[in-house]
Amino acid sequence: MTERLTPTDHGLARAAQILRTGGLVAFGTETVYGLGADATDSLAVARIFEAKGRPRFNPLISHFPDAEAAFTQVTADSRAQKLAERFWPGPLTLVLPRSPRGEICDLATAGLPTAAVRVPACQSALALLRAVGRPIAAPSANPSGAVSPSTAAHVLDGLDGRIDAVLDSGPCPVGVESTVLDLSGEKPRLLRPGGVTVEDIEALIGPVERSAPLASATPVAPGMLSSHYAPTLPVRLNATSVEDGEALLAFGAPLTGSPLVWNLSERQALDEAAARLFAGLRHLDHEGTRLGLRGIAVQPIPQQGLGAAIRDRLTRAAAPRPVTSPPSAQECPVA
Ligand code: TXA
Ligand code: MG
Repeated sequence: MTERLTPTDHGLARAAQILRTGGLVAFGTETVYGLGADATDSLAVARIFEAKGRPRFNPLISHFPDAEAAFTQVTADSRAQKLAERFWPGPLTLVLPRSPRGEICDLATAGLPTAAVRVPACQSALALLRAVGRPIAAPSANPSGAVSPSTAAHVLDGLDGRIDAVLDSGPCPVGVESTVLDLSGEKPRLLRPGGVTVEDIEALIGPVERSAPLASATPVAPGMLSSHYAPTLPVRLNATSVEDGEALLAFGAPLTGSPLVWNLSERQALDEAAARLFAGLRHLDHEGTRLGLRGIAVQPIPQQGLGAAIRDRLTRAAAPRPVTSPPSAQECPVA
């Protein structure tokens, strides 16, 4: 059952309570309706992918009530400070290095060393974000592959019964998604055109690279990015036994014989497995290397539901690593 809420004191308090306890709330912003979850809670973020039926784990934007809150999670340089001062609240998303003290979970950033942050220009969204007091991850609130929703009715068309609540703040005034600007490198790079024009950005911080596949019909998977987290130990999929010197990424009853095991989900729950995936890869890689192990064996994961996204990510982790990525693989997806 999806609750219909309006941005009254009661509605906002209820929406905040759902988010604080790991639930999903769709809420209006000035661009499109976002499907929100606590960005610090990987299980909650896994539910976003499950509800949307996303085929893979794209990195998500985290939303904040103000720049001060956003910049506790990422390292903001002077360009970011300037842009925030001028365009926030507003339809601009900044991709910046994650702060060492940041609490955004790996699943929300798809394991990237960067995080996307934004402050939406919508009173009810800001009130909700203030009430929750945590970063809120929110992709557009539509099933994967469908058109982004700009009313609460659109949200319910696609997701009724799959999410806990929708906070109806009326139609979104902008209707296209935020501009995504990557400031993690030396040169600012446009990853997605949106509500703030690149000309306005350039007027403030100078030239912006536009090499991204802006309107690409075939989004490039973020898992192909060379900067993506990939374990240094080789990964072997669909293992039915453990070979000598292998760490084990288990699913269900663990195989025997490995000195180092991380179970994605003992009870074979795919949402739990998704939530524990990036942490598990990291742990097995670090500890396995320390112990002198030579690889990571992965037990079979079912293909259905979130399993497809988990397998997609694992397949990328297991793929042979090119010394340099092909040009088409260096860009970010337009989700
Ligand atoms: O207007 C918007 O931005 C809406 C509302 C709800 O805020 N949200 C939205 O989210 O459009 P989503 O998930 O549909 O798009 C997120 C975009 C994707 O193109 C994704 O690849 C990019 O942001 N992105 C997120 N984190 C990134 C990162 N660390 N590095 C590069 N790109 C990133
Ligand atoms: Mg989208």
